Amino acid sequence: MKFAQIMLKNSSKLNIPKQVDRFSKYSPSPLSMKQFIDFGSANACEKTSFMFLRQELPVRLANIMKEIDFLPDKLLSTPSVKLLHSWYAQSLMELVDFLEKDPDDKKILTKFTETLINVRNRHNNVVPTMAQGVLEYKEAFGVDPVTNQNVQYFLDRFYMSRISTRMLMNQHTLIFDGSTNPAHPKHIGSIDPNCDVVEVVEDAYESAKMLCDQYYLTSPEVEIKQVNFKGTSDPIHIVYVPSHLYHMLFELFKNAMRATVETHETSLHLPPIKVRVSLGSEDLTIKMSDRGGGVPLRKIERLFSYMYSTAPSPVSEISRNAPLAGFGYGLPISRLYAKYFQGDLQLYSMEGYGTSAVIYLKALSTESIERLPVFNKSALRHYQTSMEADDWCIPSSEPKKLGKYEYSV
Ligand SMILES: Nc1ncnc2c1ncn2[C@@H]1O[C@H](COP(=O)(O)OP(=O)(O)OP(=O)(O)O)[C@@H](O)[C@H]1O
Ligand SMILES: [Mg+2]
Repeated sequence: MKFAQIMLKNSSKLNIPKQVDRFSKYSPSPLSMKQFIDFGSANACEKTSFMFLRQELPVRLANIMKEIDFLPDKLLSTPSVKLLHSWYAQSLMELVDFLEKDPDDKKILTKFTETLINVRNRHNNVVPTMAQGVLEYKEAFGVDPVTNQNVQYFLDRFYMSRISTRMLMNQHTLIFDGSTNPAHPKHIGSIDPNCDVVEVVEDAYESAKMLCDQYYLTSPEVEIKQVNFKGTSDPIHIVYVPSHLYHMLFELFKNAMRATVETHETSLHLPPIKVRVSLGSEDLTIKMSDRGGGVPLRKIERLFSYMYSTAPSPVSEISRNAPLAGFGYGLPISRLYAKYFQGDLQLYSMEGYGTSAVIYLKALSTESIERLPVFNKSALRHYQTSMEADDWCIPSSEPKKLGKYEYSV
């Protein structure tokens, strides 16, 4: 049976709370960086944030739960996906409980913050748990291009939704827990209004280098250059979430280091990783280039695929010493972080030489607006795509029929 048919006949096997239908009728409300900052400004109001989140978080959870319901039965019935679904259902119910509560009651606000922390902790292991479910499915039923395409579509949206709900919960808990972050007193929750990009690059490099040294007993150097379109040599700053930027850079450094060391195993000198940070009027671009041998063009798209990941099972990975490669989720999840605030992450490679990974971010905070999935007819249509004939010729791998009388019958 085709994937689309499996999806269509897929009746709710999971115990979906009624609230999901109610909240999935609303579209999520994407916040701009400015709105995030306003929520945390000097006259920040916990009550306003509470009233927004008690509606918005259930909307975002319900929208994505609707999509989970359209996964193939065989994936839905894996213990991992069932467990994961139960977390979502429980969190939704706990949050919905606050809808009727009095926002002027201080105790309610405190209880809400505690609930957010519980919800966040409950969802800590969503990524490895979902990865385990996909792996179980893959091992049992294999991968075909349609399944891959649909699972890719779903997981990009699922993980993006998770990034966004964690961002909302983090902002509220960090801003209203009554203390300032001693290491970063000027941060607004997890946002740095004056994030020094090169500083984050250096930090991510140092962490990846430590892993690389531990694992390979050597690591490449880094060369960082920055170009500011204003023509000044001032450090480049941006309004951003440093932990998101760090995550992307750390993943890219790990990949670049692994490729460099493994390609130059026998040589004494490792070519450095070159990073260029450039600020334009629209984009802030970070390009990381290595000489790690590159990847053929045919394989580039697969590197972002959750299903075609070649990484061994995460369970066996845990026992490894200091892995520079794990689930194979480094690139796809990093690209989601970049896309979350309207940026992107792309890979350009020259097989035989090396790879450049490029992170694009919005230079202006007014353009950094959350990119969120919404469950609607267009989304549904994606789950209903079936395998159609390709409208481009596919080169045949069969030997050409050159026999003299081949065409006569
Ligand atoms: N700079 C690079 N040079 C060569 N190959 C690369 C490079 N970056 C990524 N790759 C290839 O892409 C694959 C996928 O990378 P990705 O970071 O998504 O997963 P991973 O490194 O295998 O595992 P992890 O989840 O720990 O990151 C890598 O396994 C590697 O084969
Ligand atoms: Mg990686």
